[in-house]
Formats: sequence, structure tokens, C-alpha cells
Amino acid sequence: MKEQFGILPDGTQAYLYTIRGGGLTATVTDFGAHLVSLWVPDKNGHIEDVVLGFDDANGYRTGKGGYLGATVGRNANRIKGASFILGDTRIRMSANDGENSLHSGPNGFHLRMWEVERCSDHSVTFHLVSPQGDQGFPGKAHFYVTYSLEKDGVLRICYDGICDRDTIMNLTNHSYFNLAGHKNTASAMKQELILPGRFFNPDDAENIPTGELRDVEGTPMDFRAPKPLGRDINCDYEPLHLQAGYDHNWEVFCSPCAILIDPESGREMAVSTDRPGIQLYTGNFLDEVGKDGTTYGFREGVALETQFYPDSVHHPEWPQPIVKAGQPYHSETTYKFSW
Ligand code: BGC
Repeated sequence: MKEQFGILPDGTQAYLYTIRGGGLTATVTDFGAHLVSLWVPDKNGHIEDVVLGFDDANGYRTGKGGYLGATVGRNANRIKGASFILGDTRIRMSANDGENSLHSGPNGFHLRMWEVERCSDHSVTFHLVSPQGDQGFPGKAHFYVTYSLEKDGVLRICYDGICDRDTIMNLTNHSYFNLAGHKNTASAMKQELILPGRFFNPDDAENIPTGELRDVEGTPMDFRAPKPLGRDINCDYEPLHLQAGYDHNWEVFCSPCAILIDPESGREMAVSTDRPGIQLYTGNFLDEVGKDGTTYGFREGVALETQFYPDSVHHPEWPQPIVKAGQPYHSETTYKFSW
């Protein structure tokens, strides 16, 4: 199903697409290839929308920078100094987070109009042409983002790309989840999380990784056994002080790499990915008025962003988000729901 989702200032009509499958219903928009809603049953068959979002395309355009449901590209998370060396070239980006680049700068992929490449009742593929020099990155690139709902409660997001020069490809989805339903804002930090990762990246005060991979053992960052997100979030621990809560990357070494559980409704979400890292962000700076006038504030949603480690372009010892000219890029993340 396709319906109108608002007219952008340049007169472009944005659309909302509904897909169904595996007991789930989702809506996605061609404006920014956002995931707008995701309806999931609970243990009593009651259906709720478990992602934060806006009522129309202009909400996504004029929001306060929370990246609700956003497709982030070409590069997710931060690049220190908005500059790095690729091959023998210094790449210069536009800083939009102090001196640094956050989610590729002020002209992110979530603010572009994407073309619909393919569409069925259970899947939509969006296509974006990213010109040479876009956001400072080399090469003319094509990107494809496919949302599919599959049997057994699976939302699969596939990212594909190809570029005519060596470049950076590190796309993610920035949905905030609340398994009690997006309007149930008070319950976001009561949900339990499992992160099997043994190491996380401590950051400096600008949220740039220091380079250390720190063992979670004995720290509030240990989610290897299920733990409510809010249990340790206010602990006296420097990484939590510096980022006002959880806003860190964990290593990914197994599948699933994260499980979010809402004990109350019985909804669970298991995240699996082929990326090396996952960012846990507890909405420490969230401040938006979203769907049905719902106010999303401090720690009222949780993002689990699968990605390369933040600022990995400055850490050659970590996996690199570099894709060679003409080499196809493919990445997948699945969110498997049970109830
Ligand atoms: C970052 C946060 C940032 C947020 C923007 C997350 O991916 O880790 O530091 O505030 O995106 O909404």
C-alpha cells in the first residue's frame, strides 16, 4: 500500500509504503528511507508500534536531530576532525558536531529523497544516487536499502552499494525502539538488554573513541546477562558520565549481537548483523515531538545501531569501512521479534 506522506518545501510529494509479513506490519518512507512504524503483537495478541517516529515527512526534515528511524550514510557515527586520509588523499567533510562529523555531516542520507526501485506487499527497496564528492567522499555511488518482513517475525534491512572510486560505505539504521510501544515513554529504560560483547569502546568528552577496547567485566557496561537498561545507567563510572548514559560501541562476535526484552508485554527483539560493531544509544539527548504528538525526551527510546566502530578511519587496527572502486557492498541486519 502506498499513501501520501507530506509535501516537501520544493514541492516533492513524499510517500509512505506499508509492508506486511511474519506477523509484523511496517511503514517506510521514500523521504530519507526512514522506518516510520513497526507494529508487533504482544503475548496477548495486542499490537503496538514499537519504533519512535513522526507523522509525516516534514517531521523528519524539521526534527531536532534525533535521527528517528533514519537510514544513516555514507558513514554512520563520528569521524574525528571531520577529516581523514583515504589512500593518498585527505578527505574533508563538513563538521556538524563540534569539530567532528556525526552521521556524515549536515546533508545526511536521511534528508534525501530516495527512488523506489522495487516494491511488493512484504518488501520495499529504495535507491539513492550519491554524487562524486557527496559529503566530502570520493566517487559517484549508488546505494540501495531494502526493508523486508519475513516469516517468524523478522525485519531484514539490506544495504547495497557500488561506487566508481574507492570510498567509505558504513550505512546503518537509527531506529529507537520501545517494545512497550512508542507512546509508553516511561518504560523505555525498564526494558532488559543482553549484549554478549565482551569489549566496548570508551570515548572522550566529544564522543570519539580513545582507541581502547575495554573489558566489560565488573563495569556497568556488562550486559552479558539480561539487565534493565536503567539499572546501572546512573552509576558513578566515567564513560557513563561523559556521554550522559549509554552511547558506546560494543564488539560484535556472535549472533544475535543484542536482545532487547520487554518483560511486561513479552515482546523480544534479537538483532543479528554482519557488521563488526553495535552502538547502544539510550537517547540521552532525545528531544522530539513525534507520532500522535508524543513527546520523546531524555532516555525515552533505545537505538541499537549496527556499524563499523566509530571513527574507525583513524584506527587502522580496526575493521575498515572502505569499499574499492567497482566492488559491490552488501550488508544485512535482522531484527527478529517474538512475543
Ligand atoms: C550517536 C549519539 C548521537 C545520536 C544522534 C547516535 O548514533 O551515538 O551520540 O547523539 O546518534 O541522534
